[in-house]
Amino acid sequence: MRQKLVIGNWKMHGSLAANAALLDGIKAAPARARLAVCAPFPYLAQCQATLAGTAIGWGAQDVSTEVRGAFTGEVAAPMLAEFGCAYVLVGHSERRSYHGETDATVATKALRALESGLTPVVCVGETLAQREAGETEAVVGRQLAAVVEALSIDQLGKIVLAYEPVWAIGTGKTATSEQAQAVHAYLRGQLASGSAAASADVAARMPILYGGSVKPDNAAELFSMSDIDGGLIGGASLKAEDFLAIGNA
Ligand code: PGA
Repeated sequence: MRQKLVIGNWKMHGSLAANAALLDGIKAAPARARLAVCAPFPYLAQCQATLAGTAIGWGAQDVSTEVRGAFTGEVAAPMLAEFGCAYVLVGHSERRSYHGETDATVATKALRALESGLTPVVCVGETLAQREAGETEAVVGRQLAAVVEALSIDQLGKIVLAYEPVWAIGTGKTATSEQAQAVHAYLRGQLASGSAAASADVAARMPILYGGSVKPDNAAELFSMSDIDGGLIGGASLKAEDFLAIGNA
């Protein structure tokens, strides 16, 4: 039985004062799911100071493909590890589209995260045009395959996968639970046997989160699906009450 995991993606939101209130709110009540927040880099120290010793994890939203060196503006995985990060998002669609991250870049970032003991949350998802063209499985399958090829089976067994249809992110349009379940089942099937073949055991244990306009009122239905193991939450992770409600859904 895979434990439910709910991760907040704060994106480029927050301030020291707002984060303090949000984190205090999240800490104040227990949640049935395992919780974590992915904060902007400057706030990782605040997350570490506030959340250390609690059951709530924290992480970053991106990581460099490089480990050190002359890469102005980049942040390396060992640096994230120093701030106690458990997780790092890799391949979020906003990184893929605004920063030109390729499947190969995303796979390298996942590898760097693992090498520093972090859990990469590998994001995959199709655009509306791709869905309408019937390409959803081909797109997410290709995105997954790049990561599978870059990692050993042992490493693959340590990642978290997140299916985030691009058309559902920040739009208020959620995939129906059936649409999401179908893609999650496809991804798990690919892991077990398809072109991205890993092993049945890794596939069965892999947490696959759904992201894209998850709110307190739709989380329970999404999370009730057999291959949906929790959520990657953007907008609704910025309100403690909503985030906790999703963590309890
Ligand atoms: P959203 O964002 O919940 O605001 O749609 C999800 C994400 O981009 O991770």
